[in-house]
Amino acid sequence: MLIGRLNHVGIATPSIERSVALYRDLLGATRIHEPFDLPPQGVRVCFVDTPNSQIELLEPFGEDSPILKFLEKNPAGGQHHICFEVADIHEAKAEMEAKGARVLGEPRIGAHGTPVIFVHPRDMGGVLVELMETPREAH
Ligand code: CO
Repeated sequence: MLIGRLNHVGIATPSIERSVALYRDLLGATRIHEPFDLPPQGVRVCFVDTPNSQIELLEPFGEDSPILKFLEKNPAGGQHHICFEVADIHEAKAEMEAKGARVLGEPRIGAHGTPVIFVHPRDMGGVLVELMETPREAH
């Protein structure tokens, strides 16, 4: 496995609307996508494009949202995960596990419509790392 492009930085927020305003009004972001719900993952998502990557704003969706727990500890929101692209998600999962890192669950379709896994922050120096199969047509 080879670490690929930084696809996005995931940011948990109690309000996508307020976070969008920060990226737009303070930082001057102009490419802000339409928010959408991702019920299986318990999140509402909004992508903000930057010249070389994306910010993934994550708001809780539903009562079992993993973002709710995060916001209990960080009420104002904060950096939640970073996402790197990999060529093959199943290979990446097998290799992570062979190297002793805990992978959270099975590969599932993420917000970009491609399969993703998450590597436990305890095995990644405190950082929740998402690995995402490189989108076929994007690059
Ligand atoms: Co993500």
